[in-house]
Amino acid sequence: MSTRIFESHAYLYKLWRDTCLGIKGSEEREFNFLLDVLKSSNKKTETIIDLGGGVGTHSKLLSAHGFDVTLLDQSESALKIVKETYLNIKTIHSSFENIDLDKNYDVGVCMWSTLSYILDTDKQQDFYKQLSTHINNIIILDQANFYRYSQSFSKVYEGEDDTHKMKITRNWNLNENNLKTTTYVYEVLNKETGLMELIDDGESEQYLTIEQLEQYLGPEWKLKNTFGDYDVHSVYDKTTSLRLITVFEKVVV
Ligand SMILES: C[S@@+](CC[C@H](N)C(=O)[O-])C[C@H]1O[C@@H](n2cnc3c(N)ncnc32)[C@H](O)[C@@H]1O
Repeated sequence: MSTRIFESHAYLYKLWRDTCLGIKGSEEREFNFLLDVLKSSNKKTETIIDLGGGVGTHSKLLSAHGFDVTLLDQSESALKIVKETYLNIKTIHSSFENIDLDKNYDVGVCMWSTLSYILDTDKQQDFYKQLSTHINNIIILDQANFYRYSQSFSKVYEGEDDTHKMKITRNWNLNENNLKTTTYVYEVLNKETGLMELIDDGESEQYLTIEQLEQYLGPEWKLKNTFGDYDVHSVYDKTTSLRLITVFEKVVV
């Protein structure tokens, strides 16, 4: 499924993200969390791959901090924005399903439930095999704590930035296999032209349990921490945590 907010409407992605979260610039906190996780490791980090990095939400901050950042995404529109805006970020145009890395990175990050877009079990296996062999030290995988989710959900969000106003109507269903199917309707007002656009969108997400992630990454990777939010002091709790963030470290033999 092609999700418009990542593809044709990627220029509205930041507003969409901020509107869904009900807060502007939440990526600063997420970036600080990533830094804290990296600092707590005794391994030196120089290169980072941001998997499904979109328009550069975290890559821009990691790159500005001095890391050598590569952003992988299947959306050409998102990559165009990254290339035009952040000249230091390297990009790879690829889907997760066809990922074929030709070099290694010290750290791999996959933020904001983005790993859940791989629906097919075989493709999940291939993807984590790539990570297992092409990441040197640390893998950070951030999903929503889907255990808290109800089977169905409906919500309307409203937000705006300098150029657009956005109203998002979101409906989802979560099945017993942790597959979430979401429909969206966006009402977008261009504040400069006064034009209103109505956009139908949707996505399917397959959340993965910690056990599945451990199994996919294999014995060379050890689960070092599970955090319940973008805060290294937030211990994961299945019933109350907002996030399910797993940090894996390569086992040294
Ligand atoms: C929810 S956004 C997250 C972007 C960024 N990580 C963030 O936190 O803002 C998901 C991103 O993953 C990309 N994506 C979705 N499915 C993908 C796939 N199968 N392969 C590669 N990228 C994918 C989309 O194009 C989009 O940029």
